[in-house]
Amino acid sequence: MKGIVLAGGAGTRLYPTTKIYSKQLSLIYDKPLIYYPVSLLMLGGVKEVLIISNEETIPLYKKLFEDGSQIGMKFEYVVQDAPNGIAEAFILGEDFIGDDSATLVLGDNIFYGKLDFLYNALENHQSGGTIFAYQVTDPQRYGIVEFDKTGKAISIEEKPSNPKSEFAVPGLYVYDNEVIEISKNLKPSARGELEITDVNKVYLEREELKVQKIGRGVAWLDTGTPEALLQASQFFGVIEDRQGLKVACLEEIALKKGFISLEQYEELLKTIPNSLYKDYLLRVLKEEK
Ligand code: DAU
Repeated sequence: MKGIVLAGGAGTRLYPTTKIYSKQLSLIYDKPLIYYPVSLLMLGGVKEVLIISNEETIPLYKKLFEDGSQIGMKFEYVVQDAPNGIAEAFILGEDFIGDDSATLVLGDNIFYGKLDFLYNALENHQSGGTIFAYQVTDPQRYGIVEFDKTGKAISIEEKPSNPKSEFAVPGLYVYDNEVIEISKNLKPSARGELEITDVNKVYLEREELKVQKIGRGVAWLDTGTPEALLQASQFFGVIEDRQGLKVACLEEIALKKGFISLEQYEELLKTIPNSLYKDYLLRVLKEEK
């Protein structure tokens, strides 16, 4: 399984900050937003990740993650010239994906809670597509999936003005290798984008789409507006301060998943400046020893 993080886009709702700055680098409490989707891939056992963003921001991601080897990962980078749509990720990522399956996570989507079902979907993916459905109060803003009485998905629409359900499709998509061909054959939508919803429609028509409902115990957070960013920061601030455990701490995950050895972790710590973040990593080391 290969992982793709799509972290470009205009981010116009966060203007003026996004005039000079990528939304996915925003601070969510104590770490950049993009750490959260990257941690999801790592916890799902994905070690090879392609980061897609615009030309100005790719150098910043390279500085942040380097080649990934320090945390037992392999990061690659590709420029998206313009926000031509989420499905373009599979065209830009064709060489990176090769003959493998691919999980795409949007760089501004955060999941929190008991996520074993997500990790399983990544680890045990066989064929077709797997997407998720999460109940929301503002369905006009998302891709919306409709279910029949037996719970089978029967339609998917992008930002419908009259939504057929309240179940939104979050920005986490797991596909087999077919996704490359499907994406290449898409036509741009009325807003001029290669829509991920159109990819899902193809899998649905082929009866190869699994839609898993996400229950109440999981938070799927939006980070599209200043208010949503603040709420997400507060959310993780409360959880981390209460438990004394960090969420989406990539070095800790690398160690606990066995991506790096304890010795490599100790070496890594030597490169990290003194900070509260380092204090936490040192605590983890003490506990693991
Ligand atoms: O968040 C989930 C929703 O994401 C889904 O329910 C929708 O079906 C899906 O279309 C998408 O809707 P959004 O309106 O939120 O997509 P947006 O254009 O905001 O893009 C999502 C992220 O992907 C955003 O951080 C920017 C990045 N992006 C987007 C596009 C279109 C890119 O990096 N490149 C792109 O070409």
